[in-house]
Amino acid sequence: MPEKSFKYVILGGGVAAGYAAREFAKQGVKPGELALISKEAVAPYERPALSKAYLFPEGTARLPGFHVCVGSGGERLLPEWYTEKGISLILSTEIVKADLPSKTLTSAAGESFAYEILIIATGSTVIRLSDFGVQGADAKNIFYLREIDDADKLVEAIKAKKNGKAVVVGGGYIGLELSAALKVNNYDVSMVYPEPWCMPRLFTAGIAAFYEGYYANKGIKIIKGTVAVGFGTNEKGEVKDVKLKDGRVLEADIVVVGVGGKPLTTLFKGQVEEEKGGIKTDAFFKTNLPDVYAVGDVATFPMKLYNEMRRVEHVDHARKSAEQAVKAIFASEQGKAIDEYDYLPYFYSRAFDLSWQFYGDNVGETVLFGDNDPSSSSHKFGSYWIKDGKVVGAFLESGTPDENKAIAKVARAQPPANSLDELAKEGLSFASKI
Ligand code: FDA
Ligand code: NAD
Repeated sequence: MPEKSFKYVILGGGVAAGYAAREFAKQGVKPGELALISKEAVAPYERPALSKAYLFPEGTARLPGFHVCVGSGGERLLPEWYTEKGISLILSTEIVKADLPSKTLTSAAGESFAYEILIIATGSTVIRLSDFGVQGADAKNIFYLREIDDADKLVEAIKAKKNGKAVVVGGGYIGLELSAALKVNNYDVSMVYPEPWCMPRLFTAGIAAFYEGYYANKGIKIIKGTVAVGFGTNEKGEVKDVKLKDGRVLEADIVVVGVGGKPLTTLFKGQVEEEKGGIKTDAFFKTNLPDVYAVGDVATFPMKLYNEMRRVEHVDHARKSAEQAVKAIFASEQGKAIDEYDYLPYFYSRAFDLSWQFYGDNVGETVLFGDNDPSSSSHKFGSYWIKDGKVVGAFLESGTPDENKAIAKVARAQPPANSLDELAKEGLSFASKI
């Protein structure tokens, strides 16, 4: 017999879990009905802070400052909030078995939890270099960043190896944000990645040229077209150098690895339908099982705007998908209907004094507009993506709130673009007219 039984269980304690809990409260969940089970030791927080202000030497972010839902301008959900609402916040509890037919979850400590409705919000985990068999990848001071425990270990090492040498492996989100954070901490930073330019899953060559130039001007060494194949260690087992495939060897006191994430779906393998690496859902985040929902990074859902199943690993979708699922659960209990999820992809990043936003789809031809000279003081530039004669995606560095709203509007409205040259010349004013 399960030791504890709840009407609703949220499995996970990240961004989607926190926003789901708030939506449950808004919808009038009764005390004792809802549990949130997380392997983390702290209540849900805004994960993006970990690669930004959490690592800064000044203006440092620490909990409880960034518990959800402050990231989107809402009230902060402190641990007391869950108590007040009668929501069981079950922390430091890793679920190791999910038996969906019997609606039971079992923790590593052997506790079992029964639910009537389950929301899977297990997010992603990091891809490790040891997954590719890189020699020495388990040396001390090689860090990954996903959860607050990882960030705490990194902060300790940054202090211990003060003003040292850092090698950042990976040229994606973590690579770019962590290189900047380490530089701000006065580290001598080198970035290594295999592609011809950084963040290739979103950036065009023209966009990347700006960031690579800007980072180089800050003193960050960028090494492209190669990968880390091994690590040397000192007598304490700490990393001391990084061996690259092209034969170069880089000295390192700290290594940070950001070579991608993978959704945490293993607990549910063979029990629920999957698609494109995630758990397949409908437009209400319901899986093929009637009482199981999946939200955030793990969900592969119908992206209505593009008429395609997609998975999104970003915070805005984690928040909105969680809210949609909880609204759908309550609506279905009341025999009501709600609108299908109609998501406009929104990604952003911040590093140094830079800040970009992207909306829509990065497919088709591209035009670059504005001033993308890394040495200029304005650094306001952007890019449009054009497919089948329509503007489907827009990127902007250093936009004002109104300008960012304008590019979001363009990506949603998909206005026709008659000529790419015209579009490049018009630049931001094209978006501002829509
Ligand atoms: P999330 O990873 O937030 O939460 C999953 C939770 O489930 C965790 O608490 C985990 O411990 C728990 N869990 C997993 N398995 C479990 C188990 N078996 N038992 C119990 N608990 C379990 N996005 C963006 O748009 N802008 C940004 O600036 C950033 N910045 C950023 C920085 C860093 C360092 C990371 C790692 C990620 C970002 N992101 C981002 C991505 C964004 O944070 C991410 O898409 C969301 O956190 C996804 O929310 P989820 O709730 O789906 O997963
Ligand atoms: P990513 O997919 O953004 O980037 C992975 C990068 O790894 C690739 O661009 C490539 O350069 C590099 N790479 C792949 N194999 C490599 C190898 N063998 N050696 C060296 N480099 C290699 O993933 P990430 O940066 O690790 O981020 C992890 C997760 O966190 C993602 O889900 C991401 O969306 C999320 N995140 C998002 C933000 C944001 O939205 N601002 C910030 C941080 C993290």
